[in-house]
Amino acid sequence: MYYPDELVEEIREKNDIVDVIGSFVGLKRSGNSYTCCCPFHNEKTPSFHVSKTKQIYHCFGCGVGGNVVTFLMQYENYTFSEALKYLADRARVALPEEEMSPEKKKTENRKEQLREINRSAAAYFHYILTKTERGSRGRDYFKEKRGLTEETIASFGLGFADVYSDDLYKYLKSKGYRDDLMRDSGLVNFSEKYGAQDIFWNRVMVPITDIGGKVIAFGGRVLGDAKPKYLNTKETDIFNKRRNLFAMNIAKRSRRRGIILCEGYMDVISMHQAGFDNAVASLGTAFTEEQALLIKRYTGEVYLAYDSDAAGRSATKKAIDILKNADMVQRVIDMRPYKDPDEFIKALGAEEFEQRIRDAKPGLIFEAESLAEEHDQTDPEGRAAFISHIARLLKAIPDIVRRNSYMVTLSNKYHIDMNFLKNAVDSTVLVENNGENSGGQDVFRSGAGQGVSEPSLLDSRAPSEGGRVVTGTDKPESENERYLLTWMVNKPELFKKLEDIISIKDFLDENVRTVAEYLYEQYEKNGSISPAAIIDKFDDLEKQQIVAKIMNTEIDLEVDSEQEHRALIDIVRKVKLNSINAQIKNAPDANTMMELIKSKNSLSRLEGI
Ligand code: UTP
Ligand code: MN
Repeated sequence: MYYPDELVEEIREKNDIVDVIGSFVGLKRSGNSYTCCCPFHNEKTPSFHVSKTKQIYHCFGCGVGGNVVTFLMQYENYTFSEALKYLADRARVALPEEEMSPEKKKTENRKEQLREINRSAAAYFHYILTKTERGSRGRDYFKEKRGLTEETIASFGLGFADVYSDDLYKYLKSKGYRDDLMRDSGLVNFSEKYGAQDIFWNRVMVPITDIGGKVIAFGGRVLGDAKPKYLNTKETDIFNKRRNLFAMNIAKRSRRRGIILCEGYMDVISMHQAGFDNAVASLGTAFTEEQALLIKRYTGEVYLAYDSDAAGRSATKKAIDILKNADMVQRVIDMRPYKDPDEFIKALGAEEFEQRIRDAKPGLIFEAESLAEEHDQTDPEGRAAFISHIARLLKAIPDIVRRNSYMVTLSNKYHIDMNFLKNAVDSTVLVENNGENSGGQDVFRSGAGQGVSEPSLLDSRAPSEGGRVVTGTDKPESENERYLLTWMVNKPELFKKLEDIISIKDFLDENVRTVAEYLYEQYEKNGSISPAAIIDKFDDLEKQQIVAKIMNTEIDLEVDSEQEHRALIDIVRKVKLNSINAQIKNAPDANTMMELIKSKNSLSRLEGI
């Protein structure tokens, strides 16, 4: 739905950011801004700042930031439209009704009905489990056999499907649901021969919810050893196994670091009961790229807690690859000697698991250890193949600092001479993204003349610290530009003062320049600036964070005006010099170059500003 800029602006202006954020978290006044511990990452000292004058927020710890709309999108996981609706409602501004085609209305309506029927079914299963004699077998199973508390059973809405083959059907029928809807929901099967039959019977039931907490499917487990152990709802119009994660609706609000990815529903439930409310699981299928991106909306860091058997280790490697491609940090939790998180926690408890989280190894170390086990290190061929694989893993690390750091670690760990390893890495050509699967013998071929380009993975961002995705360039030059622009935001009179010296083209960093363009435009039009309005121009949350960072860098000069003036001149000079130097590099001819060199000398004029 498209809303005119003026309307968006009006709604934003009627919702003071301090009031809105303050209604979700406790803000404390501190000088010109309001602060609290960041709701998006775990911290003990507040680095989350909300500025009343600029109407933006920014966390210096994890890098999130934006305006009041962005906040709701991040905190409540609203879409832009939903956030706007919330704010319009709050400020009692009327929003134009969304226009839907009759076709779209029909499918939306159908999906709504499918969610409703799933909700009814979940309520029914839960009722049978918790309130009836018929449910006692299920209760015993969850409580005695699996050690779940009533609180856990309630919070996950667990249930029981009784032995009758049309129990749910009759219930849904009595609630007035039509047969075709029951069929499309994947809950009931219809056949000429047997009539209506429940898909789930004689199983304990785990409702699967979407990211907003709505029930969209079920996983049903047998009470004993029958097969299949788990039965899951088939894919339906509202249930896409690739796109959803079990318990993500809860985990997204967790204040724990990162997300813990498990294999099974029971692992997740057990983990949450033990206090690890950031645990999720995929839905009876392998972890997908879409699921990685879903997690990435909340955190850039994933702890893998798959089963410790061979199948689990192999699934771990696949998940590591997917996370690498999504540019996320991966760590692997070692559960040995136990099979899965559920068994681990039952045997050793939460505190011990906490320690395993702290000890979790980076994905790459896990991969290296697996390789070390697979190759006979005492055999020269085996050793060579091992080192080749290691070199490929290293080569695939885009960030040079991280690559070197891993090189040192692995060189020590496996007693590979540092220079030798470095040569191996330098001469490695990655043929495909996960080249480590393509045999081990050809790694030492030279990089020259092969006509194979490096995979695109190589220019992706380095993962962030602290779990959340931190974006934004921080080269010293960009830092200076950002700093100068921040100064101008804080003191808009500088736009005029610096008019003859600094212009948009002096901001070389692409992101900084885009913001500068908007700021200059605002200043020329209104003679003032409005940072929060600029954030609206970016629809991508990552960009919004960069913008908020640019505009919210604190300039905390506890100095007299003379020193402040000197600092300003210094920063202007640095930015200008850098810009001129860049132009000199690209000068089309000698004359232009001479002109530029001259202008460099005239930077002394700066004293007058
Ligand atoms: P596991 O067999 O590892 O389950 O399957 P688990 O979590 O240890 O199960 P418990 O502890 O015996 O109850 C892990 C996941 O694989 C899917 C389910 O999503 C399950 O949670 N699965 C497993 C199926 O979809 N069908 C099956 O028959 C088995
Ligand atoms: Mn298990």
